[in-house]
Amino acid sequence: MEKISALAKRRGFIFQDSEIYGGYQGFWDYGPVGAELKNNIKREWWKSMVYDREDVVGLDAAVIMNPTVWDKSGHLKAFTDPLVECKVCHRRIRADNEEEIKAHEKEHKEKVSWSEPKTFNLMTEVLLGTTEPKEKAFLRGEITQGVFTNFKNVTDSTRVKIPFGIAQTGKAFRNEITPGNFTFRSREFEQMELEYFVRPDDKESKEQFEYWKSARMKWYTDLGIDKEKLRFKDHEPDKRAHYAKYATDIEYEAPFGWSEFEGIHHRGDFDLKNHNLTYKDNLTGEEYTPWVIETSGGVDRALLFFLIDSYREEGERVYLSLSPKLAPYKVAVFPLLANKPELVSKAREIYNLLKKEIVVVWDDRGNIGKRYFAQDEIGTPWCVTVDYQTLSDNSVTIRDRDTAKQERMEIDKLNDYFKSKLG
Ligand code: GAP
Repeated sequence: MEKISALAKRRGFIFQDSEIYGGYQGFWDYGPVGAELKNNIKREWWKSMVYDREDVVGLDAAVIMNPTVWDKSGHLKAFTDPLVECKVCHRRIRADNEEEIKAHEKEHKEKVSWSEPKTFNLMTEVLLGTTEPKEKAFLRGEITQGVFTNFKNVTDSTRVKIPFGIAQTGKAFRNEITPGNFTFRSREFEQMELEYFVRPDDKESKEQFEYWKSARMKWYTDLGIDKEKLRFKDHEPDKRAHYAKYATDIEYEAPFGWSEFEGIHHRGDFDLKNHNLTYKDNLTGEEYTPWVIETSGGVDRALLFFLIDSYREEGERVYLSLSPKLAPYKVAVFPLLANKPELVSKAREIYNLLKKEIVVVWDDRGNIGKRYFAQDEIGTPWCVTVDYQTLSDNSVTIRDRDTAKQERMEIDKLNDYFKSKLG
C-alpha cells in the first residue's frame, strides 16, 4: 500500500485533501491523471450499464434532498455503524472489524478491554438558510434515494417498462468514524449504481439478482482485474443493510485483506413502499410495487483496486498494466531530443494528428529513458517516438508498455492502429 500511495502522489493520481494545511481525514483529491482514470471508469460503467442496453436509462439527482426522504428511507434510524471503544486510549473501531480490533490490542502493553458496541449514525448533517435556527438537511448517504424519488418522473417521461433500470453515478457522504486504508473508506466518495425494477416475484427477482451478480463480476474481469483476486461474499442476515432482503458483495483481495468492491442487493419493495410509490402497467392496467435489484459500486474503490491490481515491478521497472480503456492517456508522443527543432516540430504534428481521435499526452522532459519511466508509472499503453529516421521515411517507433518492445510504423497507419487496439 505504501508503494501504491507513493506512486499515486508522485504521478498525480491521488493527493491528500487540503494537504497544505495538514490534510483532512477521510477526504482525498484526484490529480491530473487520477481525474482521467476516474472519468474513464465512470465512462466504461455508463457504457456497459446504459448505452449497451435498451432497458436502462440514466439520472443525475441532487446531492441534498428534502430531509423527509431520509426519514422514509430509514437512514436516520438505521444507517448506523456499531462501534466499540478501547478503554485504554478511547479509540473507536467498528465492532465487526475483528482484524482491526486484534491489531489494536497488540498496540498496548496492558490487556485491552472494550466498551459495549454503541451505534453511530453515518449521515452527514448540513445547515441551510440564513435565519436562525438554520434548517438541518443531509448530504446523501447513498446516491440511491434520488432514483426512487424520481421513479414516477422517469416512468412518466420515458417509455421504460418493467423490467427496467435507472443508472446513476455521483458523490455520497458518510460520517465514517474510522476512515482509512488510503481511499478505501472515505467520508466523501463516489458511487456508480443501478436500480433495476422487477415484478414482485421471488423467482424472477432471484434470476435478476444472479444475472446482475455475474454481469458486474464480468465487468471487473473484462477490465483486467485478476479473477483470482475476486470473489463473492454473501451477507449474513445480521450484517445486511436495513433495506436488504438479501445481499452479496464483490470482494477484492487487497493488501489489507478481502474487501468490498461493490454490493449487489435485493432491496425488495422496501424503498418504493416507504415512499408510497407504485407502478402501473399501461397495457394490463395492473398496479403494484416493484421490487428492486441494486448493483452499487464505489468509483474510488474501483480506482484504488485497479491501481493495486495493475501494479507491476520488473527489476528496476515499475509499470501499471491498466486496461487501455482505463489508462489516463492512451498514447504519449515525444521527440527523441527535445532541443532539436526538426524533431520537435514533426513530433508536434503527430501529436496534433492523434489528439483529434484519442487521448494523447505530450512529453519532452529529461531523456527518453525518463519519459518511458514516467509513462510506465502512469500506465500509458504506448509511447511514440520521433527520431531522425522519421524525417527521412515518415515512420516512428511505438513502444509497448507491457512488453517494453518497440516496433516501427508509418505515421499514416498510427490512427487506425491505436483505434483497433482500443476496440
Ligand atoms: N445504495 C447501496 C449502498 O450504498 P453500500 O454497500 O453501503 O450500498 C456501496 O455502498 C458501495 O459504495 C460500496 O461497495 C463501496 O464501493 C462504496 N462505499 C461505501 N462506503 C464507502 C466509503 N466510506 N468510502 C469509499 N467507498 C464507499
